[in-house]
Amino acid sequence: MLNWDDPLAAFGGAKKPFQPLDMEPGEVPAATADEASVAAKAAAAMPARAADKVAADHHAGATGLENIEMGARRIQVDDKKIINCRADLNQLVPFKYTWAWQKYLDACANHWMPQEINMSADVALWKSQDGLTEDERTIIKRNLGFFSTADSLVANNLVLAVYRHITNPECRQYLLRQAFEEALHTHAYQYVVESLAMDEGEVFNMYREVPAVARKAEWALPYTQSLGDPTFQTGTEEDDQRLLRDLIAFYVIFEGIFFYVGFTQILSMGRRNKMTGTAEQFQYIMRDESMHMNFGIDVINQIKIENPHLWGAKFQQEIIRMIREAVEIETQYAHDTMPRGILGLNVGMFKEYMEFIANRRCAQIGLPEQYPGVGNPFPWMSEVLDLKKEKNFFETRVTEYQTGGALTWD
Ligand SMILES: [Fe+2]
Ligand SMILES: [Fe+2]
Repeated sequence: MLNWDDPLAAFGGAKKPFQPLDMEPGEVPAATADEASVAAKAAAAMPARAADKVAADHHAGATGLENIEMGARRIQVDDKKIINCRADLNQLVPFKYTWAWQKYLDACANHWMPQEINMSADVALWKSQDGLTEDERTIIKRNLGFFSTADSLVANNLVLAVYRHITNPECRQYLLRQAFEEALHTHAYQYVVESLAMDEGEVFNMYREVPAVARKAEWALPYTQSLGDPTFQTGTEEDDQRLLRDLIAFYVIFEGIFFYVGFTQILSMGRRNKMTGTAEQFQYIMRDESMHMNFGIDVINQIKIENPHLWGAKFQQEIIRMIREAVEIETQYAHDTMPRGILGLNVGMFKEYMEFIANRRCAQIGLPEQYPGVGNPFPWMSEVLDLKKEKNFFETRVTEYQTGGALTWD
């Protein structure tokens, strides 16, 4: 039965003395001399509690429940921080980072499902003997091989490594949306593989069997493993830099560089009226990915603003080295997936494109451009990215959402 004197008794008896939010856990509110001396004696008798306090000082809680006190001062915008925040993480408002909330709204407005895209022209072309060259088939297969597992890697990094350490509710709201979109992307690749009756074992194992595909996944793995360690916590300069490095590795490099040769190759095919359903799936995915990357860049820059000591010269040099290495790996991927020039594309163009993109990524996180004077050999890619849903997306949609149909009142 509910105890009206202490309504939260059922939840462990939360009726505690009033404690302002800006006080440390275990800290005693301003009190009378008598009370203070009692509290001092109690504190001296509780070394374990003092140890807890120190731990809490260094580590923000992942659930936000660690420091909740009944009747504590309400959350103020200034209490919020992207990392190492000790304010209640279960209160979405008041918003501090309106850009994160806006991206969540924009992402929801871009909702799509893989089954909405008509794959029949692709099925006919894939089955016909002379519809595609061997080189074109290789491009389709290698990219499905890379992306089908890459999106799972990103999703796992997001929910198992990143989410726990981003201590802000509006950013977490976007992360939850992003995680669902990564699931949709993996679904899209599975849907293409199934529609084309490809050997799914061959496609989904490429990241362990085909060096060009494996190299990119291998590069990313160390950056998720440290944060995925259940004992890892932010709170020191070294650990905060580890988180920042992981965010840059995944948002700026993996989603911002490693996806772009594949996107360009598949979309080039669509522009030539080949595999248009697959290309349309990739077009939706690229639009989502572009927003993931922009969100990540906003998070990274906000962490820099709030923690300028993390962004030292040595750390910047390390990030530049990672970006330059990624450009080489991705250029090699272009070579391995497309040893001969086809579809009006060649490896030289991809090298330049990767350098162009890397310059842009550097500028976006406040680093000097690394490849002076390079141009964009694929200006049409930027136009594709600006694609608005209402322009022509719905014309090709073949199914309706079923959310309304699932609700009945009988
Ligand atoms: Fe994705
Ligand atoms: Fe993504």
